[in-house]
Amino acid sequence: MIPIIKPSLDQREAEAASRVILSGWITQGAEVASFEREFAETVAAPHACAVSNCTTALHLTLLAAGVRAGDEVVTVSHSYIATANSIRYCGGVPVFVDIDPTTFNMDPNLVEAAITGRTRAILCVHQVGMPCDMAELKPIAQRHGLPLIEDAACAAGSEIFWNGRWERIGKPHGDAACFSFHPRKLVSTGDGGMITTRHKDWDKQFRLWRQHSMSVPDTVRHASNQVIFETYPELGFNYRMTDIQAAVGREQLKKLPGIIARRRELASRYSSLLTDVPGLITPVEPQWARSNWQSYCIRLPESCDQKQTMQILLDRGISTRRGIMCAHREAAYRQQPWRSPSKLEASERAQETAIILPLYHDLSMADQEYIAEQLRAVVLEGTPCEVSS
Ligand SMILES: Cc1ncc(COP(=O)(O)O)c(C=O)c1O
Repeated sequence: MIPIIKPSLDQREAEAASRVILSGWITQGAEVASFEREFAETVAAPHACAVSNCTTALHLTLLAAGVRAGDEVVTVSHSYIATANSIRYCGGVPVFVDIDPTTFNMDPNLVEAAITGRTRAILCVHQVGMPCDMAELKPIAQRHGLPLIEDAACAAGSEIFWNGRWERIGKPHGDAACFSFHPRKLVSTGDGGMITTRHKDWDKQFRLWRQHSMSVPDTVRHASNQVIFETYPELGFNYRMTDIQAAVGREQLKKLPGIIARRRELASRYSSLLTDVPGLITPVEPQWARSNWQSYCIRLPESCDQKQTMQILLDRGISTRRGIMCAHREAAYRQQPWRSPSKLEASERAQETAIILPLYHDLSMADQEYIAEQLRAVVLEGTPCEVSS
C-alpha cells in the first residue's frame, strides 16, 4: 500500500526527544523558547509563540483580534473544520465566501460584499500550502480597518512574492499567522502549533492566555531565589506546547529546506506525468506563489465519481484522500449560526471533485509512476464515470 503521507522522522528527532525527557524539564521551557526563536527566524517574523495546535492558535488569535459573541468573521467554508470552529469558540459567526477554483483559496473578489458593521476580522487560509492572494486581501482589510489573520496550518515553507522579493508565509503578511505541526504537515511535532505576529502586545497576550493567564511563568518562579506567588488576572487556557514536542520541531525545522525541495520536485513530476489525462486538472501555482506542496490536490474529470475512483485506487494499493471539506455541509453547522452572502458553488464542487495523491519525502519514482499510470487508467477505463448523487 502506498500511503498518503509519511512524516520525515528519524533518529535525530528520537534523540532530541530523549535528551529532553532525560533533562528533567519537559514542558514549555527552554526548548519551546528555542523553537519559537528558530521558527521566527525561519519565516522572518518579529514574534512567534508556540501553542498546543493550530486550532488553539486560531482561537487565541481571534480573541486577540477582538472577536467576541455575535461578531462576524469573514472566512471560507472550504477548509478543515477547525478554521470555522475557532470562530465559534469565540462566540463569533463565520461568514463564508466562495473560493477561486484554481487555487482552492478565498476569492478576494467576494470579500468586500461579505463585510458588514458586525465584521470583526478576516480569516483567510493558505489551503494545503498554496498561498492565498494576500496582495488583494490586505488592502481590503486595511480599507475596512479589520485585522487579517492567516490560517497557515499547512503552509510552513510556502512563499509569496511581496515587495519585490520572495518571502515566507508567516512573516506575517497580515496581522498574525497560525501554523499546525500535525503529522500531515511538513514540520511535525505530533501535535503542535505556532502563532507569528507583527504585534508585540498580541504576542504578550498569547503567552499569558496559553498558560492559564498565570502572571509569573513557572520558568521564572523556578529560577528565582525569592518566593513568588503568581496570580490569574483573567480567564486563560492550557494551550501549552511541551519541550519534547519543541525539541522534535527544532530537528524538523533543520530539514525543512530539503523537505520543500523534494516536494517541489515530486509535485512537478506529478504534473508532467498527468499532463495529458483527459479532463483531469492538476494544481498550478499563481506567478506570485510558491507552494510547499503540503498536498498535491487534483480535480477529477466532471464525469468521474470521486469515491469510486478513490476506491479503485485503494484496491490497486494507492491511498488517496478526498479534497478539502466544506464546514457548512457538516451536521455540526446545520443548527449553528453562519451565513454566506453568495452561493458556495466552487467550494462544494471542489469538495466533490478533488482528490489528494500520495506525497512524501521518500516516495519513489517507481511508485509515483505507478500512481500516475493507475489514475490515468481509471479515468480512461471510465468505470467510475457515474456522477455521485
Ligand atoms: C486549514 C487548517 N486549519 C486548521 C487546522 C487545525 O490544525 P491542528 O490539527 O493543528 O489543530 C488544520 C489541520 O489540518 C488545517 O488544515
